[in-house]
Amino acid sequence: MNNEVVRFERVGLGFGGNEVLREVSFVLGRGETIVLLGATGAGKTLLLKLTLGLLKPDRGHIYVLGQDITDLEEEQLFPLRAELGIVFQEMALFDSLTVYENVAYRLLEETAHGEADFSDEEIERRVREVLCFVGLEDAIWKMPAELSGGMKRRVGLARALITEPRVMLYDSPTAGLDPVTALTILTLILRLRDTRQTSALFVTHRLQDAFTLTGHVYDEDSGTLQPASSDGVAQAPGTRFLLLRNGQIYFAGTPGELLAARDPYVQRFLA
Ligand SMILES: Nc1ncnc2c1ncn2[C@@H]1O[C@H](COP(=O)(O)OP(=O)(O)O)[C@@H](O)[C@H]1O
Ligand SMILES: [Mg+2]
Repeated sequence: MNNEVVRFERVGLGFGGNEVLREVSFVLGRGETIVLLGATGAGKTLLLKLTLGLLKPDRGHIYVLGQDITDLEEEQLFPLRAELGIVFQEMALFDSLTVYENVAYRLLEETAHGEADFSDEEIERRVREVLCFVGLEDAIWKMPAELSGGMKRRVGLARALITEPRVMLYDSPTAGLDPVTALTILTLILRLRDTRQTSALFVTHRLQDAFTLTGHVYDEDSGTLQPASSDGVAQAPGTRFLLLRNGQIYFAGTPGELLAARDPYVQRFLA
């Protein structure tokens, strides 16, 4: 296995004559985080769905963890999807299930379908472990209706982590949250990046989030975010920007390069 976790090779995808992605190429390396920027409708969510194999490209190739997924059937994708954790804005919890059942969902499903054989004790141990990670172990037997919006989002993150994914796909994970709660979510995301070297594709239209991610590191002792460096433009290791425009990667680079770019579109985007 090489050090690439996701590779897009000249990927194209359109709908009824509307070419949304024309030719997208990039590589996400192990332990690396890519912050994916772009205007509404640029194709950011599509790019994540392609990575999951939920959609097939019209042209090009997509590799996940070294495997060409471009032509794989649904069933062949299942083992690979266990390596991918997703936190999408619109992914709600199941209201009629407890926090435990919501978080355990994939393990319970895999066991029910005979794809895995987890004991009840093993499942509860793992659910407690991921709930502990997001600081919500006490909520294990609660119903979603008893939780605040921020707590629900953290349970959603715990649910994504239950299979111990090597790659996380985030789609506007802080959308709709107040700044304090948003920072809690970003702190957890950076904790995954900096203590477990989890690779990530992070989609956002909140520039502030993007710069928090690229400019900070998680400090284990204090459990807080700290500036990545004290001089110049701070940059966390292995974290960079991609800007999607007109179906292509229009800009790729570090926060410093993004801020210094003279390109009028990039400047308008940052304004
Ligand atoms: N299933 C679909 N059928 C037709 N058009 C789609 C479909 N999914 C996405 N699109 C179009 O593709 C474009 C990019 O969508 P999306 O990836 O959701 O953009 P964003 O960058 O805002 O996440 C949008 O114009 C959208 O209308
Ligand atoms: Mg989107």
